[in-house]
Amino acid sequence: MKEFGDLIYTPERASGEAVSKIESHTPRIEAPDKVKAGEAFEIKVLVGPHPNRVEHSIRWIELYFYEEGRGFNPIHLATIRLEPVYTEPEVTVKLRLSKSGVLYALEYCNLHGVWEARKEIEII
Ligand SMILES: [Fe+2]
Repeated sequence: MKEFGDLIYTPERASGEAVSKIESHTPRIEAPDKVKAGEAFEIKVLVGPHPNRVEHSIRWIELYFYEEGRGFNPIHLATIRLEPVYTEPEVTVKLRLSKSGVLYALEYCNLHGVWEARKEIEII
C-alpha cells in the first residue's frame, strides 16, 4: 500500500505514461528568490496549457510552505478551487514570510492526478 506522498507526481518521479503529462500538469511558480522579512509579496502559480472542460480540467491549486526551523511542517497557505470552463488555473496570492523555506504548489487534474512544484524562498 502506497503512502499518499508517493501518489503525488513530480517531474523527477513521473514515469511511464505520466512523462507525457509533465509539461501540461506541473505547476509553474513565479515568485522572487529573495524577499524581506515580514513584507508582503506576490506569487503566481500557473498550470498548462491544459484542457478546461467539465470532463477534464484543473480542479484546485494548493499552496504550502516549509518553514526552516519550525517544529512541524508544512504550513497550509491557500486552497483555490477552480470551476471547469469558467476559471483558468492561474492564481495570484500575496504572502508574508518571516523565515526562509520552500514554497510548494500542488494542482489536481481530475484525470491525471496531483502534481507538485516547489521553489526556495530566502528571507533577507
Ligand atoms: Fe489533465
